[in-house]
Amino acid sequence: MYATNRNVNLPQPVRFRPEAVVLQGLGGYVPSEEVTNLDLEGRLDTSDAWIRTRTGIHSRRFAGPGEATSDMATEAARRALASAGNPDVDLVILATTTPDHPCPATAPAVASRLGLGPVAAFDLAAVCSGFVYALAQANAAVLSGQHRKVLVIGADTFSAIINPQDRNTAIIFGDGAGAVVVGAGEEGQPGQLSAFDLHSDGSCQDLIKVAAGGSRMPVTPDTSDADRYFSMQGKEVFVQAVTSMADSSRAALEESGWRPGDVDWLVAHQANQRILNRVAGVLGIDPEKAVIHLDRVGNTSAASIPLALADHAPQFAVGEKLLLTAFGGGTTWGAGTLTWPAITVTDPQQELNERTTPCPNPQPM
Ligand code: COA
Repeated sequence: MYATNRNVNLPQPVRFRPEAVVLQGLGGYVPSEEVTNLDLEGRLDTSDAWIRTRTGIHSRRFAGPGEATSDMATEAARRALASAGNPDVDLVILATTTPDHPCPATAPAVASRLGLGPVAAFDLAAVCSGFVYALAQANAAVLSGQHRKVLVIGADTFSAIINPQDRNTAIIFGDGAGAVVVGAGEEGQPGQLSAFDLHSDGSCQDLIKVAAGGSRMPVTPDTSDADRYFSMQGKEVFVQAVTSMADSSRAALEESGWRPGDVDWLVAHQANQRILNRVAGVLGIDPEKAVIHLDRVGNTSAASIPLALADHAPQFAVGEKLLLTAFGGGTTWGAGTLTWPAITVTDPQQELNERTTPCPNPQPM
């Protein structure tokens, strides 16, 4: 029989359950190697005009040699923490499809490099919906009193899983990372996260996938390129992305008590400008209110929403209403609403602009 003090009346941790969760910091990072449509023209059977008119993408960024998801995630997180005034964080959630290794998760490495101490840290896999999923989990974690301050990161290095010879995917994806800090706040405070709506449909798992590399199909010397690399059924994804993001957006708006006309900014996953236009149209939101960042960075998967937020931060006014929505592999999709907080954001775009070839004559979609 062991002596135990488990039943002794120890003081219980007092859980602080706040009335609201607010966004308190934001940062983004894009790697330096630029790959323009013209660069791709030289490598693939494609053209700048085709890519621009079918996707709205002009250019994207690829991680440099040796640069991994944790490197970009750490940099974006540093900027988000600085934007939030370098608070003590007690949970790190990293949304990614491209962790540094299959095992262990990448979030603990990021937390360690940031010097956050022995905080809870885990990866979340929901492909391009990862950031919305992670933000919803952070919101719930703070509301429940389980955690006080959460660092939410979306980071992906799709250049590591894309077949450079596959024109269906190589033209679309880019690398990057974005991060936010959320914590307790007051009802009605600018920055408040209002409502989330999340879904999945595993019967559509083959639409977006990397077939090999897991327990179902371990990688062997005989693994084909088709199984080793990322694949996507673009047409079906397009249709499902529009319907799912619109449905989820309606649900999140309804729970927030907002009408589509109340939305100041639609910050949808930066998949394809035609998808964004279509989602705005279906919801009855002016397409001018749809934030566009994909033209310069492509589809950065889990990073796309926080990077779009960081890019457009100077244009948002405090208290404006933002609708976030995403669709991704799984399939997974979701939406969330928030008002814009009074925060200072280190502008990743400033740096990006200095390094980016200006987009020639954006074409109407
Ligand atoms: N460059 C040039 N031509 C291309 C091409 C490329 N990269 N890809 C396809 N084509 C050609 C096709 O061969 C076809 O030619 P054809 O008419 O002579 O047969 C034509 O262009 C149309 O091809 P299609 O596959 O119908 O293109 P699309 O209009 O569906 O656009 C995508 C393809 C991938 C851009 C589009 O389906 C898409 O954006 N899907 C969603 C992808 C996405 O957002 N994924 C992430 C979600 S999380």
